[in-house]
Amino acid sequence: MTDAPDLASDIVTPDPEAAQAYRIRDWDEVAGPAADFRTFWEDRAKELEWYEPWHTVLDDSNAPFYSWFTGGKVNIVHNCVDRWLKGPTRNKLALIWVSEDGQETRTFSYFSLNREVMTWANVLKAMGVSKGDRVTIYLPRIPEIVFAMLACAKIGAVHSVVFAGFSSDAIKERILDSESNLVITADGSWVNGKVFELKNIVDEAVRHAPTVENVVVVRRTNTEVTMDPLRDHWFSDLETLPIAKGQCSTEVLDAEDPLYILYTSGSTGRPKAILHTHGGYMVGVYTTLKYVFDLRDEDRWWCTADPGWVTGHSYLVYGPLLNGATSFMYEGGPTYPYPNRWWQLIEYYGINILYTAPTAIRSLMRFGEAWPNRHDLSSLRLLGSVGEPINPEAWHWYHRVIGKGRCPIMDTWWQTETGAFQITPVPSMPLKPGSGGKPFFGQEAEVLDEKGNPVPDGQEGFLVLKNPWPAMMRTLYKDPDRYVSTYWSTYPGKYLTGDSARRDADGYFWVIGRTDDVIKVSGHRLGTAEVESAFVSHPAVAEAAAIGLPHEVKGNAIHAYVVLRVGYEPSEDLEDELRQHISRHLSPIAKPDQIDFVAALPKTRSGKIMRRLLKARALGQPEGDTTTLDD
Ligand code: WTA
Repeated sequence: MTDAPDLASDIVTPDPEAAQAYRIRDWDEVAGPAADFRTFWEDRAKELEWYEPWHTVLDDSNAPFYSWFTGGKVNIVHNCVDRWLKGPTRNKLALIWVSEDGQETRTFSYFSLNREVMTWANVLKAMGVSKGDRVTIYLPRIPEIVFAMLACAKIGAVHSVVFAGFSSDAIKERILDSESNLVITADGSWVNGKVFELKNIVDEAVRHAPTVENVVVVRRTNTEVTMDPLRDHWFSDLETLPIAKGQCSTEVLDAEDPLYILYTSGSTGRPKAILHTHGGYMVGVYTTLKYVFDLRDEDRWWCTADPGWVTGHSYLVYGPLLNGATSFMYEGGPTYPYPNRWWQLIEYYGINILYTAPTAIRSLMRFGEAWPNRHDLSSLRLLGSVGEPINPEAWHWYHRVIGKGRCPIMDTWWQTETGAFQITPVPSMPLKPGSGGKPFFGQEAEVLDEKGNPVPDGQEGFLVLKNPWPAMMRTLYKDPDRYVSTYWSTYPGKYLTGDSARRDADGYFWVIGRTDDVIKVSGHRLGTAEVESAFVSHPAVAEAAAIGLPHEVKGNAIHAYVVLRVGYEPSEDLEDELRQHISRHLSPIAKPDQIDFVAALPKTRSGKIMRRLLKARALGQPEGDTTTLDD
């Protein structure tokens, strides 16, 4: 699936008539010279409502700690919810939600969304949450996760959403690091017809996280759970209390006040807490969605991501609401109970734009064309892809079978850190399957060699971004030094993405993959170090190394090399046990596809595991420079 793209020949040109109708016809028309990016972003910010205007668009006096719209007073929730309560938009659908079993639909107009968010905000306040406090959210893909996130933002609290597939160890670590006093969870979640017991996992995490004073529990699966009478509260009880009722005003915040932290994997064991703010993030997410997906008033937008990851934050929760759009949210995955679930939903709900991940496309492709062909997909106008490179074969299937050759595919490249799209096509552009297109307005990207010189077009190198942008992370929460050293020190003044890429002669970028110890498994971001530390927490394991190897559906699959402690023997049972251990102690998504028991791991003389060498050997590739290898 890593078919080396033929950079020149495979180009899909837009239908000229459709292209005329798009908001942006020509990239350069709006992009202009990058020097003008301040004006571009200021004009976009003016399209949103501010309590008080900013005095400085971009303050770079303390770079790389940039600040945007400095002096401005705002709250993202004002622009996601409050502003739509005036006029006819109050009755517009903000959210359409469908349960995994397809039996239940819940819809919320902007008016009723506001009511739910106010109730949640009142409850949070009653629990003692106030401006600046961190709240950990561990919820499934149900409307309540949207309400809880918006309620935090409304009162100026900082949400920290943990994907509801992570283990109790992972939650505990994130609760402790963020010093949350409150955790919001559900009794369970539905995963392919089975209950995943969220509350039990939270109980285990909270046992070791003494900062937590309250746990709010949403009822979803009616699973039996243990409720601590002092600490745990059913949301269904709380919402009936008088204190939950009535108006709750939206907190007036500084543009640079924190909106959320989101933990993501990096090169070392400890996940990084990416910090985003109200003002700049709001402008970035609003603008990118509006232009790239040409969002229209009558559209029904479906982003299939989970709010536990950044794609869900930016383009399921905040982006569509900032645009006053109607967003569709489905609790389940693409192939349960049958591989036509998504196509059925697109037909029934008249979805116009589908934004999903290459791994989902590849998994659906395997089931053949008959499943989508049974459904009327004519409502679709645009398609999107995110999370990892999309191989041209999957691109063409998506374009031909789902989009019927009519729907341009927006392959959007971005990261938790960037908050919003950075390299992406726009619908009127000629598309090159497998390429993410060009840098977004005001952005400039470069491909550099190790010394920091641009490599010639067509050659692989390190991808960097040159200009600051409003939705950029502001720092790593509680770790500003790591923010500087990870992202801004390799090439001073330039943002290091951690990806390798090529640029072709037409200025299109081709992202190849991570250059660090991050692995994208089914589009989910995992760190080798996290997997390795989950391994060594098992009594049989002395040492472990994890690498990502190409996988037809998942993009990458984890292969692990394990050195056992004296007294343990390799066996299939032990292999199974270790796989379960990783699932329980990190996440089911981190389960290795293969575990090899080895006598020793290749290391440098300074003791670092040479994962590069393990990967080269596994792929039968040249081993490269091994002079630092310890015997
Ligand atoms: C990868 C997800 C190729 C990339 C939004 C990046 C992509 C990492 C694309 C960030 C794309 C994301 N084409 N690669 N369209 N989108 N990536 O933080 O390696 O979960 O660095 O954010 O995903 O992953 P994250």
